Amino acid sequence: MSPAMPLPAESSVPSAAPSASTAPRALREPMTAPVRSATIDALLAHRTIRAFTDEPVGEEVMRTLLTVARASATSSYFQQATIIRVRDAAVREAVHAASGQPYVGGDRGELLILVVDLHRNAVIRERAGAPLEPLERTYAFLQGCQDALIAGQSMVAAAESLGLGTCYLGSILGDPAGLITALGLPERTFPLLGLLVGHPAQEPQYKPRLPEQITVGIDSYPPLEEHDAELAAYDERVTEYYDLRDASRRVDSFTEQIARMVGQGRAAQAPVLDVLHRQRLCLR
Ligand SMILES: Cc1cc2nc3c(=O)[nH]c(=O)nc-3n(C[C@H](O)[C@H](O)[C@H](O)COP(=O)(O)O)c2cc1C
Repeated sequence: MSPAMPLPAESSVPSAAPSASTAPRALREPMTAPVRSATIDALLAHRTIRAFTDEPVGEEVMRTLLTVARASATSSYFQQATIIRVRDAAVREAVHAASGQPYVGGDRGELLILVVDLHRNAVIRERAGAPLEPLERTYAFLQGCQDALIAGQSMVAAAESLGLGTCYLGSILGDPAGLITALGLPERTFPLLGLLVGHPAQEPQYKPRLPEQITVGIDSYPPLEEHDAELAAYDERVTEYYDLRDASRRVDSFTEQIARMVGQGRAAQAPVLDVLHRQRLCLR
Protein backbone atom coordinates (compact mmCIF):
# COMPACT_ATOMS: atom_id res chain seq x y z
CA MET A 1 0.00 0.00 0.00
CA SER A 2 1.47 3.36 -0.90
CA PRO A 3 1.58 5.80 2.02
CA ALA A 4 -0.68 8.15 0.06
CA MET A 5 -3.37 5.52 -0.54
CA PRO A 6 -6.75 6.80 0.67
CA LEU A 7 -8.27 4.86 3.52
CA PRO A 8 -11.61 3.14 3.08
CA ALA A 9 -14.51 4.76 4.91
CA GLU A 10 -14.67 1.93 7.41
CA SER A 11 -11.05 2.35 8.43
CA SER A 12 -10.63 0.93 11.90
CA VAL A 13 -7.89 3.41 12.81
CA PRO A 14 -8.94 4.70 16.21
CA SER A 15 -9.17 8.47 16.07
CA ALA A 16 -6.82 8.98 19.03
CA ALA A 17 -3.91 7.44 17.13
CA PRO A 18 -1.92 9.48 14.67
CA SER A 19 -1.91 7.59 11.39
CA ALA A 20 1.12 7.37 9.16
CA SER A 21 0.09 10.67 7.61
CA THR A 22 0.20 12.68 10.85
CA ALA A 23 2.99 10.85 12.70
CA PRO A 24 6.54 12.21 13.09
CA ARG A 25 8.39 12.04 9.79
CA ALA A 26 10.47 8.97 10.69
CA LEU A 27 7.30 6.98 11.41
CA ARG A 28 5.45 8.36 8.43
CA GLU A 29 7.83 7.20 5.76
CA PRO A 30 9.42 3.83 5.10
CA MET A 31 13.11 3.20 5.69
CA THR A 32 15.34 4.06 2.78
CA ALA A 33 18.28 2.13 1.33
CA PRO A 34 21.06 3.15 -1.05
CA VAL A 35 19.77 1.07 -3.95
CA ARG A 36 16.16 1.11 -5.13
CA SER A 37 13.93 -1.17 -7.17
CA ALA A 38 10.21 -1.77 -7.14
CA THR A 39 10.82 -4.92 -5.07
CA ILE A 40 13.09 -3.14 -2.58
CA ASP A 41 10.64 -0.26 -2.22
CA ALA A 42 7.81 -2.71 -1.55
CA LEU A 43 9.90 -4.56 1.06
CA LEU A 44 10.88 -1.33 2.83
CA ALA A 45 7.24 -0.23 2.87
CA HIS A 46 6.27 -3.24 5.00
CA ARG A 47 4.05 -2.75 7.99
CA THR A 48 1.74 -5.21 9.63
CA ILE A 49 -1.96 -4.69 8.89
CA ARG A 50 -4.48 -5.88 11.46
CA ALA A 51 -7.73 -4.51 10.00
CA PHE A 52 -9.12 -5.39 6.60
CA THR A 53 -12.00 -4.23 4.44
CA ASP A 54 -14.65 -6.72 3.33
CA GLU A 55 -13.31 -6.71 -0.24
CA PRO A 56 -12.27 -10.28 -1.10
CA VAL A 57 -8.66 -10.94 -2.03
CA GLY A 58 -9.89 -12.91 -5.03
CA GLU A 59 -9.09 -16.34 -6.38
CA GLU A 60 -6.48 -15.28 -8.92
CA VAL A 61 -4.49 -13.41 -6.31
CA MET A 62 -4.77 -16.27 -3.82
CA ARG A 63 -3.64 -18.78 -6.41
CA THR A 64 -0.76 -16.46 -7.26
CA LEU A 65 0.33 -16.12 -3.62
CA LEU A 66 0.18 -19.88 -3.12
CA THR A 67 2.18 -20.43 -6.30
CA VAL A 68 4.79 -17.89 -5.14
CA ALA A 69 5.00 -19.82 -1.85
CA ARG A 70 5.59 -23.09 -3.68
CA ALA A 71 8.32 -21.49 -5.82
CA SER A 72 10.34 -20.46 -2.74
CA ALA A 73 13.70 -21.96 -1.81
CA THR A 74 13.38 -25.18 0.18
CA SER A 75 16.01 -26.80 2.38
CA SER A 76 17.64 -29.78 0.62
CA TYR A 77 14.71 -29.74 -1.86
CA PHE A 78 12.74 -31.70 0.77
CA GLN A 79 9.69 -29.36 0.53
CA GLN A 80 8.71 -29.88 4.16
CA ALA A 81 6.02 -27.22 4.44
CA THR A 82 2.29 -27.27 3.72
CA ILE A 83 -0.07 -24.32 3.66
CA ILE A 84 -3.66 -24.66 4.82
CA ARG A 85 -6.06 -22.07 3.45
CA VAL A 86 -8.84 -21.69 5.99
CA ARG A 87 -12.21 -21.20 4.31
CA ASP A 88 -14.69 -22.86 6.65
CA ALA A 89 -16.13 -20.46 9.25
CA ALA A 90 -15.99 -23.08 12.02
CA VAL A 91 -12.33 -23.85 11.32
CA ARG A 92 -11.56 -20.13 11.27
CA GLU A 93 -13.32 -19.74 14.58
CA ALA A 94 -11.14 -22.53 16.03
CA VAL A 95 -8.01 -20.72 14.83
CA HIS A 96 -9.41 -17.49 16.27
CA ALA A 97 -9.97 -19.22 19.62
CA ALA A 98 -6.43 -20.62 19.59
CA SER A 99 -4.96 -17.21 18.82
CA GLY A 100 -7.13 -15.13 21.13
CA GLN A 101 -6.68 -12.13 18.82
CA PRO A 102 -9.89 -10.42 17.63
CA TYR A 103 -8.81 -9.76 14.04
CA VAL A 104 -8.25 -13.50 13.43
CA GLY A 105 -12.00 -14.13 13.69
CA GLY A 106 -14.77 -13.17 11.29
CA ASP A 107 -14.41 -13.24 7.54
CA ARG A 108 -12.18 -10.31 6.66
CA GLY A 109 -8.94 -11.21 4.99
CA GLU A 110 -7.76 -14.65 3.96
CA LEU A 111 -6.39 -16.84 6.74
CA LEU A 112 -3.51 -19.19 5.97
CA ILE A 113 -1.69 -21.60 8.29
CA LEU A 114 1.96 -22.38 7.58
CA VAL A 115 2.51 -25.98 8.63
CA VAL A 116 5.86 -27.68 9.18
CA ASP A 117 5.26 -30.94 7.35
CA LEU A 118 7.46 -33.99 7.85
CA HIS A 119 4.46 -36.29 7.47
CA ARG A 120 4.48 -36.31 3.68
CA ASN A 121 8.10 -37.41 3.53
CA ALA A 122 7.46 -39.98 6.27
CA VAL A 123 4.81 -41.59 4.07
CA ILE A 124 7.19 -41.54 1.10
CA ARG A 125 10.03 -43.04 3.15
CA GLU A 126 7.76 -45.67 4.67
CA ARG A 127 6.68 -46.76 1.19
CA ALA A 128 10.35 -46.98 0.20
CA GLY A 129 11.19 -49.01 3.32
CA ALA A 130 13.46 -46.20 4.62
CA PRO A 131 13.65 -45.53 8.40
CA LEU A 132 11.61 -42.64 9.86
CA GLU A 133 14.09 -41.85 12.64
CA PRO A 134 15.86 -39.04 10.71
CA LEU A 135 12.55 -37.17 10.53
CA GLU A 136 12.38 -37.17 14.33
CA ARG A 137 15.60 -35.19 14.73
CA THR A 138 15.51 -31.50 15.66
CA TYR A 139 17.41 -30.61 12.50
CA ALA A 140 14.61 -32.04 10.34
CA PHE A 141 12.09 -29.92 12.25
CA LEU A 142 14.26 -26.84 11.75
CA GLN A 143 14.38 -27.55 8.03
CA GLY A 144 10.57 -27.65 7.98
CA CYS A 145 10.46 -24.35 9.92
CA GLN A 146 12.87 -22.81 7.43
CA ASP A 147 10.72 -23.91 4.50
CA ALA A 148 7.47 -22.72 6.08
CA LEU A 149 8.87 -19.31 7.03
CA ILE A 150 10.50 -18.70 3.66
CA ALA A 151 7.28 -19.65 1.86
CA GLY A 152 5.34 -17.33 4.18
CA GLN A 153 7.66 -14.40 3.61
CA SER A 154 7.46 -14.91 -0.17
CA MET A 155 3.68 -14.63 0.11
CA VAL A 156 3.95 -11.54 2.30
CA ALA A 157 6.29 -9.83 -0.17
CA ALA A 158 4.07 -10.75 -3.11
CA ALA A 159 0.89 -9.64 -1.32
CA GLU A 160 2.41 -6.33 -0.26
CA SER A 161 3.66 -5.74 -3.80
CA LEU A 162 0.00 -5.86 -4.85
CA GLY A 163 -1.04 -3.32 -2.20
CA LEU A 164 -2.47 -5.95 0.13
CA GLY A 165 -1.83 -6.00 3.86
CA THR A 166 -0.58 -8.96 5.91
CA CYS A 167 -0.32 -10.03 9.52
CA TYR A 168 1.70 -13.00 10.71
CA LEU A 169 0.06 -14.83 13.58
CA GLY A 170 2.44 -16.46 16.03
CA SER A 171 -0.50 -16.22 18.43
CA ILE A 172 -2.10 -19.35 16.91
CA LEU A 173 0.27 -21.28 19.18
CA GLY A 174 -1.83 -20.15 22.13
CA ASP A 175 -3.43 -23.59 21.81
CA PRO A 176 -1.23 -25.80 19.61
CA ALA A 177 -3.04 -29.03 20.49
CA GLY A 178 -6.47 -27.53 19.76
CA LEU A 179 -5.23 -26.20 16.46
CA ILE A 180 -3.82 -29.57 15.44
CA THR A 181 -7.23 -31.14 16.10
CA ALA A 182 -9.15 -28.35 14.33
CA LEU A 183 -6.95 -28.54 11.22
CA GLY A 184 -6.78 -32.35 11.14
CA LEU A 185 -2.99 -32.29 11.26
CA PRO A 186 -1.34 -35.73 11.27
CA GLU A 187 1.75 -36.85 13.21
CA ARG A 188 4.99 -35.16 12.14
CA THR A 189 3.26 -31.88 11.31
CA PHE A 190 3.15 -28.65 13.32
CA PRO A 191 1.20 -25.39 12.74
CA LEU A 192 4.07 -22.93 12.95
CA LEU A 193 2.49 -19.65 12.00
CA GLY A 194 -0.74 -18.09 10.76
CA LEU A 195 -0.95 -15.38 8.13
CA LEU A 196 -3.76 -12.95 7.37
CA VAL A 197 -3.87 -11.34 3.93
CA GLY A 198 -6.41 -8.74 2.90
CA HIS A 199 -7.19 -5.25 1.72
CA PRO A 200 -5.93 -2.78 4.35
CA ALA A 201 -8.47 -0.83 6.39
CA GLN A 202 -5.86 1.02 8.39
CA GLU A 203 -2.69 2.96 7.79
CA PRO A 204 -0.31 2.26 10.67
CA GLN A 205 2.93 4.08 11.28
CA TYR A 206 6.18 2.46 10.28
CA LYS A 207 7.60 0.75 13.34
CA PRO A 208 11.23 1.73 13.80
CA ARG A 209 13.85 -1.01 13.73
CA LEU A 210 17.03 -1.39 15.77
CA PRO A 211 19.97 0.38 14.10
CA GLU A 212 22.39 -1.39 11.81
CA GLN A 213 25.34 -1.07 14.23
CA ILE A 214 23.45 -3.25 16.71
CA THR A 215 21.93 -5.84 14.39
CA VAL A 216 24.66 -6.31 11.78
CA GLY A 217 28.12 -7.60 12.66
CA ILE A 218 31.11 -7.62 10.36
CA ASP A 219 33.07 -10.85 10.79
CA SER A 220 32.01 -11.19 14.41
CA TYR A 221 29.17 -10.46 16.77
CA PRO A 222 28.49 -6.73 17.38
CA PRO A 223 28.56 -6.39 21.22
CA LEU A 224 25.62 -4.37 22.49
CA GLU A 225 27.81 -2.73 25.14
CA GLU A 226 29.63 -0.84 22.39
CA HIS A 227 26.39 0.68 21.12
CA ASP A 228 24.55 1.84 24.24
CA ALA A 229 24.16 5.37 22.83
CA GLU A 230 22.51 4.05 19.65
CA LEU A 231 20.24 1.84 21.76
CA ALA A 232 19.20 4.80 23.91
CA ALA A 233 18.46 6.90 20.81
CA TYR A 234 16.45 4.03 19.36
CA ASP A 235 14.51 3.67 22.62
CA GLU A 236 13.57 7.32 22.30
CA ARG A 237 12.30 6.87 18.73
CA VAL A 238 10.22 3.83 19.64
CA THR A 239 8.23 5.81 22.20
CA GLU A 240 7.02 8.08 19.36
CA TYR A 241 5.20 5.11 17.85
CA TYR A 242 1.52 4.55 18.51
CA ASP A 243 0.36 0.96 18.30
CA LEU A 244 -3.10 0.87 16.72
CA ARG A 245 -3.96 -2.02 19.02
CA ASP A 246 -3.80 0.37 21.99
CA ALA A 247 -4.12 3.79 20.43
CA SER A 248 -4.65 5.56 23.72
CA ARG A 249 -0.95 5.70 24.57
CA ARG A 250 2.51 5.68 23.12
CA VAL A 251 4.29 2.35 23.29
CA ASP A 252 6.99 1.64 25.86
CA SER A 253 10.60 2.00 24.77
CA PHE A 254 12.12 -1.08 23.14
CA THR A 255 14.14 -2.02 26.21
CA GLU A 256 11.06 -1.62 28.43
CA GLN A 257 9.09 -3.88 26.06
CA ILE A 258 11.77 -6.55 26.19
CA ALA A 259 12.00 -6.37 29.98
CA ARG A 260 8.23 -6.58 30.40
CA MET A 261 6.90 -8.70 27.55
CA VAL A 262 9.23 -11.58 26.70
CA GLY A 263 7.55 -14.79 27.86
CA GLN A 264 4.13 -13.14 28.26
CA GLY A 265 1.05 -14.19 26.30
CA ARG A 266 -0.59 -17.55 25.77
CA ALA A 267 1.61 -18.70 22.89
CA ALA A 268 4.80 -18.03 24.87
CA GLN A 269 3.40 -20.10 27.73
CA ALA A 270 1.91 -22.97 25.71
CA PRO A 271 3.31 -26.49 26.13
CA VAL A 272 4.99 -26.39 22.70
CA LEU A 273 7.70 -28.96 23.40
CA ASP A 274 5.14 -31.50 24.72
CA VAL A 275 3.01 -31.03 21.61
CA LEU A 276 6.04 -31.34 19.32
CA HIS A 277 6.96 -34.61 20.99
CA ARG A 278 3.39 -35.89 20.69
CA GLN A 279 3.63 -35.08 16.99
CA ARG A 280 6.85 -37.16 16.86
CA LEU A 281 8.94 -34.06 16.16
CA CYS A 282 12.19 -32.93 17.81
CA LEU A 283 12.51 -36.27 19.62
CA ARG A 284 16.31 -36.02 19.52
C1 LIG B 1 6.85 -14.69 13.37
C2 LIG B 1 5.93 -13.52 13.63
C3 LIG B 1 4.79 -13.70 14.39
C4 LIG B 1 3.91 -12.64 14.60
N1 LIG B 1 2.77 -12.87 15.30
C5 LIG B 1 1.87 -11.86 15.43
C6 LIG B 1 0.62 -12.11 16.07
O1 LIG B 1 0.34 -13.19 16.55
N2 LIG B 1 -0.26 -11.10 16.13
C7 LIG B 1 0.00 -9.86 15.63
O2 LIG B 1 -0.86 -9.00 15.73
N3 LIG B 1 1.18 -9.59 15.02
C8 LIG B 1 2.11 -10.57 14.90
N4 LIG B 1 3.29 -10.34 14.26
C9 LIG B 1 3.58 -8.99 13.71
C10 LIG B 1 4.60 -8.27 14.58
O3 LIG B 1 3.99 -7.84 15.76
C11 LIG B 1 5.16 -7.09 13.77
O4 LIG B 1 5.84 -7.57 12.63
C12 LIG B 1 6.12 -6.25 14.58
O5 LIG B 1 5.46 -5.65 15.69
C13 LIG B 1 6.75 -5.16 13.73
O6 LIG B 1 5.76 -4.32 13.18
P1 LIG B 1 5.61 -4.13 11.61
O7 LIG B 1 5.49 -5.48 10.98
O8 LIG B 1 4.38 -3.29 11.42
O9 LIG B 1 6.84 -3.42 11.14
C14 LIG B 1 4.20 -11.36 14.06
C15 LIG B 1 5.36 -11.19 13.30
C16 LIG B 1 6.21 -12.25 13.08
C17 LIG B 1 7.44 -12.04 12.24
